[in-house]
Amino acid sequence: DWTSAAFVETTIADLQAQIGDDKVVLALSGGVDSSVAAVLLHKAIGKNLHCIFVDNGLLRKNEYESVLEQYKDFGLNIKGVDAKDRFLGELAGVEDPETKRKIIGRVFIEVFDDEAHQIQDVKWLAQGTIYPDVIESVSVKGPSATIKSHHNVGGLPDFMKLKVVEPLKSLFKDEVRRVGTTLGLESFILGRHPFPGPGLGIRIIGDVTPEKVAILQDADQIYINNLKEAGLYDKIWQAGAIFLPVRSVGVMGDERTYENVIALRAVESLDGMTADWCHLPYDVLAKISNEIINKVKGINRVVYDISSKPPATIEWE
Ligand code: XMP
Repeated sequence: DWTSAAFVETTIADLQAQIGDDKVVLALSGGVDSSVAAVLLHKAIGKNLHCIFVDNGLLRKNEYESVLEQYKDFGLNIKGVDAKDRFLGELAGVEDPETKRKIIGRVFIEVFDDEAHQIQDVKWLAQGTIYPDVIESVSVKGPSATIKSHHNVGGLPDFMKLKVVEPLKSLFKDEVRRVGTTLGLESFILGRHPFPGPGLGIRIIGDVTPEKVAILQDADQIYINNLKEAGLYDKIWQAGAIFLPVRSVGVMGDERTYENVIALRAVESLDGMTADWCHLPYDVLAKISNEIINKVKGINRVVYDISSKPPATIEWE
């Protein structure tokens, strides 16, 4: 007997009672949860909600621009922060996956804290935490978890002194999507595949360079667009391309090439905890492979990941 309309109505009233005329800051990621949390809060407290969307340079191709545009259309009070150079600068030469994750998490907090600091008299930090994040909080990764894990560490950033509001804390993912639909969010946001907080930074195996990011963005865009054209995108839990720091020999015309490999990953899952690789049709895979190899300079080979979780994780790092 749970209905999204009733949830929206009660939650808006609760948020208004809880927050009053205080200002709230929220980090938007472009994902479903933070977007739904933002729109819900916006309905409740309007311009007192200040959203911050950080471009870490590790987003999908054109993601920053298109997502920012969507949010503005929604009337959200949002500030985009271009921190690409800062993230990529700090990542330069770093190969270890956990170190990369920690750097991305730390820089995110620094950038977000700087920005939150510029809003006068903020009292609350809103987060798009959902129920599975609460119960799996030990294994959850990403900005929100990073914020939590910093609780016990000395020298807290300023925004840690804020009170926390988490309007989606009792909901499962499908309920969050239904709430989003009730709020009028489009499938452009609601139907998106999960995307990790560290973004393409953990889909480039080994060290991250701006050149590798550009190659991976192009390959990933071809992959995702083809899945959409084939009507497969919505049937897949999550898909993405991975840049492998492996070079292999190929031929192009009369020339010998020696270039990098792109791996494609697509999985079916209910909650991300376990996952099966998708049996994508061969003709779709063939088209994607041809298009990537023909159009993306620096790639001469495409492979498909046929590993399930466990033991393979969804992300490669
Ligand atoms: P794994 O790779 O552990 O991923 O099988 C399970 C799900 O979690 C996502 N994931 C992340 N999400 N921050 C996030 O917000 C992260 O650091 C992170 N790492 C993995 C992954 O994309 C998949 O949906």
